[in-house]
Amino acid sequence: MKKHILTLCLFLLISGILAGQNNTVIPAPLVFVQNTGYFSIASGCKVSAPAAFKREMHFLQTELLRYKHLTTTFAASEKEAVIILSNKASKNFLYELQILKNKVIITSGTDTGIFYGIISFLQLVNNASSLQQIPCATIKDSPSMPWRGIMRDESRHFFGVEKVKSILDWMAYYKLNKFHWHLTDEPGWRIEIKQYPNLTNIGGIGNFSDKNAEARYYTQQDINEIVQYAHDRKIEVIPEIDMPGHASAANRAYPEFSGGGSEKHPDFTFHPTKETTYQYLTNILKEINVLFPDRMLHLGGDEVSFGIDKWKTDPAVLELMQKKNMNDIKGVETYFIERMADSLAAMNAKILVWDEMVTANLPLDKTIIFWWRHDKPEQLKLSLQKGYKTVVCPRIPYYFDFVQKEDHKVGRKWGGKFSDLQSIYNFSLKELQPDAKSRSSILGVQGNIWTETIQTNDRLDFMLFPRIAALAESAWTPEEGRNFDRFMERLKLHTILYEAEKLYYFNPFDAGVHGEPAN
Ligand code: ACM
Repeated sequence: MKKHILTLCLFLLISGILAGQNNTVIPAPLVFVQNTGYFSIASGCKVSAPAAFKREMHFLQTELLRYKHLTTTFAASEKEAVIILSNKASKNFLYELQILKNKVIITSGTDTGIFYGIISFLQLVNNASSLQQIPCATIKDSPSMPWRGIMRDESRHFFGVEKVKSILDWMAYYKLNKFHWHLTDEPGWRIEIKQYPNLTNIGGIGNFSDKNAEARYYTQQDINEIVQYAHDRKIEVIPEIDMPGHASAANRAYPEFSGGGSEKHPDFTFHPTKETTYQYLTNILKEINVLFPDRMLHLGGDEVSFGIDKWKTDPAVLELMQKKNMNDIKGVETYFIERMADSLAAMNAKILVWDEMVTANLPLDKTIIFWWRHDKPEQLKLSLQKGYKTVVCPRIPYYFDFVQKEDHKVGRKWGGKFSDLQSIYNFSLKELQPDAKSRSSILGVQGNIWTETIQTNDRLDFMLFPRIAALAESAWTPEEGRNFDRFMERLKLHTILYEAEKLYYFNPFDAGVHGEPAN
């Protein structure tokens, strides 16, 4: 039965897209049926919502005011309202949106569903040729993947509260729902920890371009504000505190916990045998766990091998290896993560790690693995084989610090390959998930923005737009319903909004509009 409904939806999706010049929504909804006529919106429009959805209605009102300078007011009763939020669960869809000639009704049994219905409506308003020409349509919609993420690196270059909020706004506009925030690494530590003020006073100094740049970091008050802002947009926030490698900034602040490094990456690791290291990091994670109530903490675990030369000759490390029967130094890495995972488990928080840690013995029901090394598909395979929930974000095409056009100069390539819009859009999970069990283990996809080559807001926007839109559709819309050419037609309309919002975006329709910004 379920299969029949899905087939029907896909048919409607494809036929809807084909028929529907008026479907301008990204990501493409599962069902879009175009009706005749237009809805017209003007200031004074009355709205109504049950108590459960008052916040979501307020969001719609503020966005209509922001984008279109329209004022709306709450109706005394639903009868006199023109825009109605309705609390009714649908059996097969997360939300439904009906745009009639004289009314708009958004229906869902959840606040998240209502929010996404509002977003679809807002997009149709923004993309309409005028406020009198909002196309009548019926949308029935659900996401195909639960994890639709963006990761941003704040250590290499720091961007600040306003830029984070802007990214959260755009994530919400494209129904992305996980913000993975890489807050610590070699150049700087970017989050205030009350118990260890030097992490920011000293560790916050410097960035990838200037190791003496003044300390920049988020206060705990900033974090509270951002987490609330994200939640208002149905986005969960996942902090990453990278360990046991990429720890140089922390080690500048508290050298007593340093495990040394290598010539190229001095003081890169935490010390893996001192009990005080584990207590120190657990104390930090306890504060982090309070600040990020979504209870998913990313512990990194990547590229530890870049800086473990000192471990290899440290008598205490060699003794640990012998005592624990470890065959190689990699055993020390996994031991470290397992110890810290115990701390997180005691806080009842999920443990998120990069794919290097797939060989660690982490609890299946509490761990999420992030597959990032596109040249090591065996890591993904092992993650799925072991039964871990897995987020898919291979460098190609999901690293947005890679260039998106052959002749772009600033940013990475890998053996000549890069992350262009079409590769992101068409990325297929089919061959990665051969059976139903592994299919259900893949949570979704994520675009990662590392910032070694991104110093300014303009460059950040240039690398993010319009790839964020392709990412969103690849995460939300089932593969069978995606069509790159149709997506590009819809995207063209979205660039009108990018212009209005003064975004410095890469324009795939006319690369001359905004040239590639220097780093
Ligand atoms: C990574 O790119 N080091 C996860």
